[in-house]
Amino acid sequence: MILLTGATGLVGTAVLQRLVAARRPVRCLVRDPRGLGEHRVRVQLALGDLADPPSFRNAMRGVDTVIHLAASARDQPAGSIEELNGIATWRMVRAAEKAGVRRFVFVSGLGASPHHRTRLLRAKALAEDVVAASALETTILAASLVYAPEDRAQRLLRRLLLASPVLPVVGRGAAEFQPIWAADLADCILATLDRGEARQRHDIAGPATLTAREVLDVRVRALRRRRRGVMVPEPVAAAGLRIGENLLKSKTPVCWDEVELLTASMTTQAGATGAENLGVQPAAMPAVLGPVVSREAP
Ligand SMILES: NC(=O)c1ccc[n+]([C@@H]2O[C@H](COP(=O)([O-])OP(=O)(O)OC[C@H]3O[C@@H](n4cnc5c(N)ncnc54)[C@H](OP(=O)(O)O)[C@@H]3O)[C@@H](O)[C@H]2O)c1
Repeated sequence: MILLTGATGLVGTAVLQRLVAARRPVRCLVRDPRGLGEHRVRVQLALGDLADPPSFRNAMRGVDTVIHLAASARDQPAGSIEELNGIATWRMVRAAEKAGVRRFVFVSGLGASPHHRTRLLRAKALAEDVVAASALETTILAASLVYAPEDRAQRLLRRLLLASPVLPVVGRGAAEFQPIWAADLADCILATLDRGEARQRHDIAGPATLTAREVLDVRVRALRRRRRGVMVPEPVAAAGLRIGENLLKSKTPVCWDEVELLTASMTTQAGATGAENLGVQPAAMPAVLGPVVSREAP
């Protein structure tokens, strides 16, 4: 039995699709099973929350492999970024050890470190250390920016372009990424499952290095739109978004902790080699997003 967390997310959806297609027995730890769509009748369900450790302890019964994808780039009412990504992973690893799980698969971000400028990648560094130090067989995949057609970023951008004649670019937009399609990352994750090494670590990146500004341009072109970019200094963007967070609380469409992730590079010198070593030839972002016809008013 595979326990999959984060099955309703960008990467989790693609992983679940592949596990179900391969007829592998799956249990999904979810807050709300409706997010699983049609797959919810094909998997075992364990209701749980990263902020509620007893819930995922129960979900581990009879599990051979945990694929831990659940994460949050923003604070939630029940837990901070540090609790949901760092401490929860620590608790999940401990629960897996106690339950006799064999392998723990964890997805981190390229460049995670205890001194990273973003809270998420500091918490991911702590989580990576816990996973790597555990007694289990472990797999860590450190990914660059992950995307998919019509992902949350694309939906937000579509709304922004409808509302604004210019495109706000935070800072200089110079941070570098090697965007990887969620489907390619999912293929990488599946490819690691049947490898025997007790300790695996893979840096997973797409085939091209793009600045944050170039990523935004690819996304805008995919929506068949054009907009003049306007640089917004980081302190101004942070202050503005924090005002929105104070007013809208968890309903804010985007918060500074999420935007800040686009100001720090996530690259590896090895480029796409990590994915290729797992038998995956990652696609280029413009080829995946392509220009799509917008269904909304120009
Ligand atoms: N996206 C990227 O650019 C990127 C880059 C590098 C690494 N990663 C890592 O890759 C993994 C998958 O990322 P993703 O992009 O697929 O994330 P995502 O789309 O934001 O999905 C997050 C998943 O975590 C679940 N989740 C959030 N808070 C939870 C909580 N309190 N309790 C239980 N489940 C919770 C969500 O479930 P709900 O449906 O209940 O919200 C959702 O299934 C994450 O570990 C992420 O940090 C992502």
